[in-house]
Amino acid sequence: MRTTFLFLLSLVVSTMANGETFYNLGSKHLTASEINKGDIHVALASENVVASRFLSDGSNTTSFDSSSGANTFLVEKVSGGVVLKNLKSEEYFGGSGSTFGRTKSKSSAKVFTVKDITSAVENVASNSLEGHYFSFSSGGTRYLNINTNGYNSVQYATGNGCWSVFFVYPVTVEDRAELNIIPAPKKVSVTDGAYNLPDGFKVSVSEFSSDNDIVLYDVQNFIHKVNTATGKKGIASADGADIRLSQDVSLAEEGYVLDIAKDGITLSALTATGLFYGLQTLMKLMPANVILGKAGNGTENYALPLAKIEDEPRFPYRGFMLDVSRHFFSVEQVKKMIDLMAIYKMNVFHWHLTDDQGWRAEIKKYPSLTTTGATRSNSWNTDIHQVIENGNVYWTGVGAYTGKPYGPYFYTQEEMRDVVAYAKQRHVDVLPEIDMPGHFVAALAAYPQYSCTPNNPPTVWTNGGISNNVLNVGNDNAVQFAKNILSELCDIFPYPYFHIGGDECPTSQWESNDACKAKLARLGKTNFRALQSDFIREIGEFLKGKGKKMFCWNESVTAEGADLDIMKESDATIMCWYPCQSSATKATSLGLDVIITEFSSGCYYINRKQSTDYGEPDAAGSGNDSVEATYDYVPVPKNVSAEALKHYKGVQGTFWAEHVSSNEYLEYLAIPRFMCLAETGWSPQSLKSWSSFRKRMTEETKLLDLGGYVYARHWMEGYVHRQAPVLPIRDGATVTFTNMSGDRPRCLAEESGNINGQGSANTEWVLESTGRDGQYYIKSSTTGKYIYASKNEAGTIVMLSKINKTPWMFDTKTIAGFLAICHTSTDGLAINNNVSNKTHAHLAAHGGSNGSSFWTIQEAEVTGVKTAEVQSGRHSSEMAYNLLGQVVESPDRGIFIMNGKKILR
Ligand code: ACM
Repeated sequence: MRTTFLFLLSLVVSTMANGETFYNLGSKHLTASEINKGDIHVALASENVVASRFLSDGSNTTSFDSSSGANTFLVEKVSGGVVLKNLKSEEYFGGSGSTFGRTKSKSSAKVFTVKDITSAVENVASNSLEGHYFSFSSGGTRYLNINTNGYNSVQYATGNGCWSVFFVYPVTVEDRAELNIIPAPKKVSVTDGAYNLPDGFKVSVSEFSSDNDIVLYDVQNFIHKVNTATGKKGIASADGADIRLSQDVSLAEEGYVLDIAKDGITLSALTATGLFYGLQTLMKLMPANVILGKAGNGTENYALPLAKIEDEPRFPYRGFMLDVSRHFFSVEQVKKMIDLMAIYKMNVFHWHLTDDQGWRAEIKKYPSLTTTGATRSNSWNTDIHQVIENGNVYWTGVGAYTGKPYGPYFYTQEEMRDVVAYAKQRHVDVLPEIDMPGHFVAALAAYPQYSCTPNNPPTVWTNGGISNNVLNVGNDNAVQFAKNILSELCDIFPYPYFHIGGDECPTSQWESNDACKAKLARLGKTNFRALQSDFIREIGEFLKGKGKKMFCWNESVTAEGADLDIMKESDATIMCWYPCQSSATKATSLGLDVIITEFSSGCYYINRKQSTDYGEPDAAGSGNDSVEATYDYVPVPKNVSAEALKHYKGVQGTFWAEHVSSNEYLEYLAIPRFMCLAETGWSPQSLKSWSSFRKRMTEETKLLDLGGYVYARHWMEGYVHRQAPVLPIRDGATVTFTNMSGDRPRCLAEESGNINGQGSANTEWVLESTGRDGQYYIKSSTTGKYIYASKNEAGTIVMLSKINKTPWMFDTKTIAGFLAICHTSTDGLAINNNVSNKTHAHLAAHGGSNGSSFWTIQEAEVTGVKTAEVQSGRHSSEMAYNLLGQVVESPDRGIFIMNGKKILR
């Protein structure tokens, strides 16, 4: 509070010193330390006085009261507007015109109208300041514009009234933080004291009008968890209850009110789901083991803080997507993620069941989908694992292709029904996705008659990327194939929505296919993208017949040539990923609902690399999609109109699994960004505070430890970042890439100069100093030429050649234990069997969508090497050293310094 006051005062004084008529605070983005979140904090300046003064004493004359709470005002809603209550004196701001003062009487308090200054936003409730511009007017002509959309910026307007500036921002979330609840509840009032839940506590439930079975399940489950965790007995009982659960029809669909008072606990909700969320919150106030139902040590503290929590979600859709095609996750792991969703009040599990790399859902009519379609010939395996050292975590190991078949892996229909039922008990809906008509290679490998190249069937992909092999939407049988698949799945998944994909679908095969050409002509269109739009229309109608609505990725409205008339009619929900915000703008302008799952800035793709720290495992992205960036991303832009705002239905954390083959790695990348998304989806934007979240999340790790979840820690305060050791690489050192059969580092193709060519065997490269610390050119010792990359117009690297000095260089500092080869620009380079895929580089996976800014030569740590499987024994007779100069026995993967100097693969 004091910080804020000083900040305000200094602005006021400095502007007065400039002799301005109005106190121009301009706009200011408060830093986290200047904001205490929670209720509404108001300070104001008037034209004639230092406003903070009269707000604190009401007289305009006495000196300013800077004590805590003196310039903090709670905005309370009354008929016709809001009144401002001084948190210190508990008096209201009173008076009228230019006479101001304080009053004990709420009814004689000055009523401020909440004037909506953006004409598009009307009748915004004064108690929902989130996401809008407001003007508080004294009745004169001067307004203050307050942007409460997460930035707390203040603007001012001129006029003849008495008011020049209000300053409004939320306060008190620090209180909520003390309660350690993620996601932060909408409203919390804490009073001193505690309620001690007695041994043998009783829980009573009044009738809920619907879902009684679930209500009873939730209650039994709650009692069971408390009992198991504490060894003390609770029972369901009609009388003398300590915890009273009842229905309150005035509450929102998923809302609840939890009142922990001296004489017991009351939890009210409209629905079983609201009740469930209230119980989650209640459990969160108990020892961590209660929420997981794990046996405690019998010393648990039953003292619950006296608090009233009035809560409801910001968005109705709070999702988590898991890609099980690129890597298959067991039913058990899926359930473990659903458990986490429930704890954090997320409610839609988006199951990405199919993609080019594998079909994972049993379809009885088409058994080959889960034999041929669920198997691939090779697989990227992140043979990496975490090491915990003095409480800090880093990763070691190699990402590499195994050279072995993968699969068949899939879920039986029984297993899918089991997951749906499991999720339902946790108030999570399952949104299945069958990605069509692109990303459909696995299906077409099994049923090539529905591809555009039946005589040249595709095989299930082993790499990531975008395939040209897509469903032949010009073939009626192929469309029927898709419908038949959906038909079986509609019976399994009761959620009234179905995701049909629609992303990244090249039209090139349609353009040379007679059936597609004929269909395009029948549609009277010229752009082949219209075939996709028409397919979406037809599938949407089919789903409607099954009582379902459709979800599509944003390409359905953003791909060039997409038929927006069709989409407008489709009633589809658009999942916006890239370009996220502009696609949301487009979709909402068509009247379509949107879900925000931002791919780029502040990333909601929570499989991406989250830190550039040494010791971070390899993953897509550059390491900039940090926990804080995910947390701070504002999903609804501040200038969205009221009409468009209605269509923002929620947010989603999306997890793709090209790089991720283990459960621990999935959890490590997802957590705690998962919780960032949970809080963004549930808590009002105005309550969000990274510093508060960070504190609460740190506490929350006790729960994660108990639950056996792996999670990232580099974001935690006090985390000691692991330093990269200095590598014994120096000017004049040589490196050699040996001739491996299929996947040697082609980018170093000294002979062919082409990225598709193969590097020659045992080419020796000399590191030559650039004159910059730790950076080297790479020169061939045989030709004296340097490695160079050039790009085509699309920015794809197409040529590697040997010319005189170019900016490719080693950076020995970036990642220790690895040798990093670095480019000075942000241009990327793929080093992979699949050279078109820049993000899945075999030797260089760092860099994100535009490729890598540097690339690593893999695996130089002894631990990773020793556990690796020997491929051919090729180097087994040689003595090898890793980059730390340590002896490596039987190297088989990665590139190592051999004989102290050379690096072999
Ligand atoms: C996507 O990331 N292709 C939806």
